[in-house]
Amino acid sequence: MARRRIIAGNWKMNKTPSEAVALCEELKDLVKNDDVDVVYCVPAIDIVPVAEAVKGTNVHVGAENFYIEDKGAFTGEISAPMLKDAGVEYIIIGHSERRDIFGENDVLINQKVKKAFAAGLNPILCCGESLALRKADTYKEWIRRQITWDLDGVTADQVKKLVIAYEPIWAIGTGETATADQAEEVCGLIRSLIAELYDQATADEVRIQYGGSMNAGNAAELLSKPNIDGGLIGGASLKPDFGKIVNA
Ligand code: 13P
Repeated sequence: MARRRIIAGNWKMNKTPSEAVALCEELKDLVKNDDVDVVYCVPAIDIVPVAEAVKGTNVHVGAENFYIEDKGAFTGEISAPMLKDAGVEYIIIGHSERRDIFGENDVLINQKVKKAFAAGLNPILCCGESLALRKADTYKEWIRRQITWDLDGVTADQVKKLVIAYEPIWAIGTGETATADQAEEVCGLIRSLIAELYDQATADEVRIQYGGSMNAGNAAELLSKPNIDGGLIGGASLKPDFGKIVNA
């Protein structure tokens, strides 16, 4: 079945509000493609100006983080309804930087997935193994465990709207990309796991991205693989090259 391609930029902690608007302007004509969902996942402070800057274009706005409560005494946090009201449609959950630097575990990540759906946001759920797990050849079990925990209590109808990003940690920001075959192996495994946890129809609909040093040079080969429906792009999403990935 034909799944719609989804190319998302993860801007991470880059771009002040005025720089963010300038980047939207720079990329505007380059990211045009009616056959692809294009998403900019941006720092919280950039959401409102970016939503304004991409109005009337094919670009959707995403966020990089939120907290699971709707409101209250949670100093410094931002809630899913706040993101929704500001025009956010996609939300990155479970990125390895949040897991490793900010100590987010699969219990919290699972709560975030359920909360995002309840608030009407589409999660981009990230998974991926460290170099040590890849070398020990235990990465398949690791990915299985992450996805199984993270989707506990999530319904098949929700999973059909979910995006899963496979991001091997050893390939993030390192310039070292997983080969297209390595990426396809894990993306295929994730799809089989969804069929096992849910059913084949759900597995056929869930969209799976690859992320990790994806760039204008390697995107076409990665995206040609049957189980890779898109990309989650860090460094290259901040440059005109992002347009080449959207149109790869
Ligand atoms: P890079 O594309 O910079 O390797 O980052 C990937 C990533 O972490 C996207 O979420």
